[in-house]
Amino acid sequence: MSSQDIPEENLPAEQGAPHGAVRVADEKNPFADPGLPPHEHRIQDIDERAAKRSERAVALLFTVSMLATIGFIASYVTIPNDKSIYVFPIGHVSAMNFALGLTLGVALFCIGAGAVHWARTLMSDAEIADERHPIEASPEVRTKVHADFKQGAKESAIGRRPLIRNTMLGALTLVPLSGLFLLRDLGTLPGTSLRHTMWAKGKRLVNMNTNQPLRPEDVAVGSLTFAKPDGLEETNEDFQTEIAKAALMIVRLQPDNIKDKRELEWSHQGIVAYSKICTHVGCPISLYEQQTHHVLCPCHQSTFDLSDGARVIFGPAGHALPQLRIGVDSEGYLQALGDFEEPVGPAFWERG
Ligand code: FES
Repeated sequence: MSSQDIPEENLPAEQGAPHGAVRVADEKNPFADPGLPPHEHRIQDIDERAAKRSERAVALLFTVSMLATIGFIASYVTIPNDKSIYVFPIGHVSAMNFALGLTLGVALFCIGAGAVHWARTLMSDAEIADERHPIEASPEVRTKVHADFKQGAKESAIGRRPLIRNTMLGALTLVPLSGLFLLRDLGTLPGTSLRHTMWAKGKRLVNMNTNQPLRPEDVAVGSLTFAKPDGLEETNEDFQTEIAKAALMIVRLQPDNIKDKRELEWSHQGIVAYSKICTHVGCPISLYEQQTHHVLCPCHQSTFDLSDGARVIFGPAGHALPQLRIGVDSEGYLQALGDFEEPVGPAFWERG
């Protein structure tokens, strides 16, 4: 079959179709639009027998859909409501529900499949380039706008009245400052309060769930324990503020698995204590993977390696989780040996 036999809407642009345009890449201008790639004819475009086969396939799918719909109606009318059948691997199901689902599914699938096959094989597949209009204004329009602007400036006398011009510029410069002052309404500035937590030398670590001071033997290998400073109770007026800074994660690692030397020195028998507050934007970390010693922040998936100084191994967090140096007091309870040495929470502190 020659190209004269192909319907015009199936012809590519370079063969005379009224829409679309195929252009050759401009070697002098590498940014020029190279246009559409050469059009490839489908077998149905050049072989009428193939087109007929596709037509019959589409018609067959639509016919099967009709039969399935008739089957759906027949199932609804004829199958008793209480009859059940065995369907592998589901087991016993209502015969009517099974027939209704099956026939409706086939009917809808065949309509979809017929439409897709029709579109892919028989409908026109000519590519069309939709040219954009130039965005910049024409030289005439630009000249007119320029002239209008000059005319406006002249009529406003801004050039001849510097007092007005200067005071207007001053007013326009100062007025945004009022918005800056309104920012103070968002709350008091944090000052240095975020640099300090309730942890201090001798403060016991208390289990957040049981409210009991923790001993080393309470922390099992592979478990994740959350702790707070002794004396911080929910009834305290500033409980929310303080717990948001002081919440701890406690994990027991095999000392041999601890890669970071400082981490090992700051731990007790492999028990390490880290801030629970993510260094990205401050979500509480709650997921611990025992085999890898990774903890995961659920907010944006920052992942920290607790066996390597809680450094960031994935995600947007900017720095490692701060570690709390811990030991044991004379009665055998876990205690802090000072406050965190780095600010807890979001890493914007690093900018200073
Ligand atoms: S707050 Fe933890 S990853 Fe964003």
